Amino acid sequence: MSSTSVLELPLTASGMTPRVVDPALDLEVEIRRLKKQLNAVILAHYYQESDIQDVADFVGDSLGLSQEAAKTRADVIVFCGVHFMAETAKILNPDKRVLLPDLDAGCSLADRCPPETFAQWLKLYPGHTVISYINCSAAVKALSDVICTSSNAVEIVRSVPKDRPIVFAPDRHLGRWVMKQTGRDMVLWPGFCVVHEQFSQRRIVRLRAEHPDALLIAHPECEESVLSLADHVGSTSSLLQFVRTSPAKAFIVATEAGILHPMRRARPDAKLIPAEPSSGCNCALCPYMRLNTLEKVYLCMRDGRPQIEIPEPTRTKALRAVQRMLDVSAGKVFTGGD
Ligand code: 13P
Ligand code: SF4
Repeated sequence: MSSTSVLELPLTASGMTPRVVDPALDLEVEIRRLKKQLNAVILAHYYQESDIQDVADFVGDSLGLSQEAAKTRADVIVFCGVHFMAETAKILNPDKRVLLPDLDAGCSLADRCPPETFAQWLKLYPGHTVISYINCSAAVKALSDVICTSSNAVEIVRSVPKDRPIVFAPDRHLGRWVMKQTGRDMVLWPGFCVVHEQFSQRRIVRLRAEHPDALLIAHPECEESVLSLADHVGSTSSLLQFVRTSPAKAFIVATEAGILHPMRRARPDAKLIPAEPSSGCNCALCPYMRLNTLEKVYLCMRDGRPQIEIPEPTRTKALRAVQRMLDVSAGKVFTGGD
């Protein structure tokens, strides 16, 4: 379909032309056509709308997506996730175009850890190994010794020599959970995820009473009071794998509701009960992830924007920390940083 199917509206007060897609357009067909034309790969996180997951070449958690980005041979990476994920793909691929359907798709953890404040805070902890959760900006990654995701945080912390003190940022809940798993003390930046902090112990206890046969599975960004009740704690991929392989027939799922799409596919026989957030809605949706829509995926591929750009000195410093994470996950030894 040619660009004549897109209705261009008059300029707005801000001078931007709103990009409106003809509702008659078959977006899946168009996206597949553009993918070939651009030699693009579409990477999507499990928290994306199901129609986005369905057009993606790879759907995964933050670690899987970084590993895919590191090895892709495509010229263009269409990143259906949030800003820090697309930035990580760009850190690994400076010569490729990395497109993010909506540039405002941020993350509460990344937003609440501004690099200037973080740099000042780190001065309080000289000699510490700085481990940052991947949910942070490229500038914060550049201030870190090594990056981790919820898949490998325990492994990364264990890879730091025992005599090295550790600073962990920006998720205090993940940090606390990793401290419990590893027995290592760490200084924690006080960040949190606005989606996972909404699950309350009180509501989970009520749900468990309503579904006594269901297992509770939770993402480590949840509060300790929720994690302490869980039958399994892990990254989105790990939660999916647990559902896939568990003999149980019902699961209470304490993470963003996008994961229910692959879980339903993996276990059509199982009852999946989304844990309710305390905000009054019935399921937890990440307001940042949900800014991406299939229309915006099409538009970013059609127009080649928005694109991710990172200043080169920041990118090279951030790359060092990201590469260390990938190396540790591939079995290489980390000596704790500089
Ligand atoms: P995963 O790496 O477990 O997919 O988590 C990403 C994320 O943003 C969780 O909120
Ligand atoms: Fe960030 Fe939370 Fe959304 Fe994940 S779910 S992207 S941590 S705000």
